[in-house]
Amino acid sequence: MTRREHSPKAGGPLTLAVTSGKGGVGKTTVVVNLAVALARARSRVAVIDADFGLGNVDVLLGLQPVRHLGHVLAGACELEDILVRGPHDLRIAPAGSGLGELTALAPRHWARLQAGLERLGRDLDFLLIDTGAGISANVVNLVHAAGRALVVTSPEPTAIVDAYATIKVLTVRAAAPTPALLVNGAHGPDEADLVFRQLEAAVRRFLHRPLDSFGFIDDDAAVREAVLAQRAVVDSAPDAPASRAFRRLANRVASLVPPGGPGLRLVGRPAVAGSLPRVEASQCA
Ligand SMILES: Nc1ncnc2c1ncn2[C@@H]1O[C@H](COP(=O)(O)OP(=O)(O)OP(=O)(O)O)[C@@H](O)[C@H]1O
Ligand SMILES: [Mg+2]
Repeated sequence: MTRREHSPKAGGPLTLAVTSGKGGVGKTTVVVNLAVALARARSRVAVIDADFGLGNVDVLLGLQPVRHLGHVLAGACELEDILVRGPHDLRIAPAGSGLGELTALAPRHWARLQAGLERLGRDLDFLLIDTGAGISANVVNLVHAAGRALVVTSPEPTAIVDAYATIKVLTVRAAAPTPALLVNGAHGPDEADLVFRQLEAAVRRFLHRPLDSFGFIDDDAAVREAVLAQRAVVDSAPDAPASRAFRRLANRVASLVPPGGPGLRLVGRPAVAGSLPRVEASQCA
């Protein structure tokens, strides 16, 4: 894979929101390793940690940011002020903590986020958004605003059922792009294929929609070791099965045709008004 292979001709980066029904199925692990795999291949990549209040993209990469998206949403900082550099020039907008009570962003918050993302997007090939688990208004709005949605599930029945519920909510809008499924923590291709076929059949039968497969990531002890070392497994153990799988996923994502729009469109989403906790405006002065 070479830089700008997917050539975002329409001006926006390829924007992919990563979500799940059940928590803990590996969204953040997937976002971090997909981003690092793309960045290793010299693509220009940014990660938005939109798991407001509980974000840990920075923790997985051993970074210690001072500012976070809460500062941007509150109008204290611009998006550019909070970006931290990860491996291979990856840019990360941390979610920070203390935003737990932010259940739904107000239109003015979306507007601030969009303005920053539009500027950032001019200089990007890929924009990856890590979301919280479940189907909150923020997650639904973010996924709808992104060009593509990647739903992560583990092979466990509970996670599969919750993935279906998430896909159902995400595909309520007729214009919603076809979601893609990634089975994380699979014990080989057969198990992953079974999970995909079960979900695809249910989505076709009951939601009358197709479902794309983005393959699977192996259940791999190297991933757990990389988490403990606060590194991406594609960097710390490039030959591990999971690392090979993340490179396959990166190639799949790089082959996508960009939606053709100017990145995210967040303004005007039917967001329920939310309130932001106070942040120190002086931190960006
Ligand atoms: N492919 C894998 N193989 C082995 N372990 C994995 C794999 N993917 C994730 N894990 C383990 O699962 C843990 C949870 O993953 P992660 O934090 O990425 O989940 P999440 O979906 O982002 O969780 P949350 O819903 O809380 O945001 C990781 O700390 C890691 O130890
Ligand atoms: Mg997470």
